[in-house]
Amino acid sequence: MALEKYIEDNKNKFLEELFDLLRIPSISADSAFASDVRKAAEFIKDKLITAGADNVCLEETAGYPIVYGEKIIDPSLPTVLVYGHYDVQPSVPDDLWETPPFEPTVRNGNIYARGACDDKGQMFMHLKAFESMMATNSLSCNVKFMFEGEEEVGSVNLGKYVINNKEKLKADVILISDTSMLANDLPSINVGLRGLSYVEVEVTGPNRDLHSGVYGGAVANPINILCDMIASLHDENNHITIPEFYDDVMNVSADDRTALGEIPFDQADYNGKLDIDSVHGEKGFTTIERTGIRPSLDVNGIWGGYIGEGAKTVLPSKAYAKISMRLVPNQTSDNITKIFKNHFEKIAPESVQVKVTPHHGGEAAVTPTDSMAYQAASKAMEETFGKKPIPTRGGGSIPIVALFEKELGLKTVLFGFGLDSDAIHSPNEKYGLFNFYKGIETIPLFFKHYTELSNK
Ligand code: BES
Ligand code: MN
Ligand code: MN
Repeated sequence: MALEKYIEDNKNKFLEELFDLLRIPSISADSAFASDVRKAAEFIKDKLITAGADNVCLEETAGYPIVYGEKIIDPSLPTVLVYGHYDVQPSVPDDLWETPPFEPTVRNGNIYARGACDDKGQMFMHLKAFESMMATNSLSCNVKFMFEGEEEVGSVNLGKYVINNKEKLKADVILISDTSMLANDLPSINVGLRGLSYVEVEVTGPNRDLHSGVYGGAVANPINILCDMIASLHDENNHITIPEFYDDVMNVSADDRTALGEIPFDQADYNGKLDIDSVHGEKGFTTIERTGIRPSLDVNGIWGGYIGEGAKTVLPSKAYAKISMRLVPNQTSDNITKIFKNHFEKIAPESVQVKVTPHHGGEAAVTPTDSMAYQAASKAMEETFGKKPIPTRGGGSIPIVALFEKELGLKTVLFGFGLDSDAIHSPNEKYGLFNFYKGIETIPLFFKHYTELSNK
């Protein structure tokens, strides 16, 4: 049977199976869901086996297992290493979901569920493309699969696994579908990801919560102080004020900036979709540049004091915030964490104590557009979308991409089919049926073109 027919005939089955996977609440950040995360790993393992992969196993780690499988049809042919993640972000706030996060539903051509796009829907396209190629005897080169359950919490155990299994993971290129395109009629391939440094800060004032009348005005309020400190991290041009923060930032060439400027982008449409009157960012850079080639610093959460119903007059003892810094090539996560910590401790007034605790991080990555793999991906998309994809830079992070390059010496193709409007990490996350099926159709063409280009 022809590949296209197999895919066409099995569309409903593919969707039903994806729904089964989406029903498993595999939230890696919350230990209450530990058995569900494992269940998702088992589910994928079974699907790899039925699709026809060999040596399928769950590789145990100190955390959640890595699902591994492979099909080596001829050692002299190239090998593609496919990576994805089966864990998802927490679904909270649940009351903002129109339909429950783990009860997938189709509305207006979209699949609504936590993980629909990030990354179960996109990862599952690879499983179904592989199944289709196996069933129609059209797999043209070797493939290895590696799916992890800790991407959303920093991929620490995957990093160790990669370092300890270099021989097993030997391949020619990494293929990942975990990013977005510009639009369904504007295919694009992500060629840059930002790095990340994530810290938590704690500011302590008096040794106990105080009456805000008895002590207010005389004793430092850690929330007031924390707000001042955070506000001071940007200047009037929205430039980050931490000394040395920009020292290693790679300057992007005028040509590259011109290319970014040519990416179709409608600022008014962007604002409209977010219900904002205006954007806010570093002076001298466009929106695409601000998220693509410039670092940023954001408070992700801030708390302390009384937040219950009504008013309680209290001068709190402590205040907290979680802060993320998105990094660009040549900045390193460890160094940025270090200079942040030094700076934050330094700017604290004597009236409080400050503690900075680093969380996970990762390095930025740039992927080439002149590689065989990129050309293969570009040709594949051009065939199925009828338009040549545009290279773009994404603002998100997949820390393992830089690690793959460092440890395995392999470049990645970010073969993402999502949209920025898919609301990943937010309530009502979705993934288009169009995108799901387009991915399944396009992935086999990548394999075909990659094998052909490699033989030249
Ligand atoms: N798939 C995303 C990253 C992404 C999304 C890249 C869209 C480009 C476009 C990934 O699952 C993710 O959310 N990564 C985290 C980093 C991780 C260390 C928690 C992120 O970017 O916050
Ligand atoms: Mn993801
Ligand atoms: Mn994510």
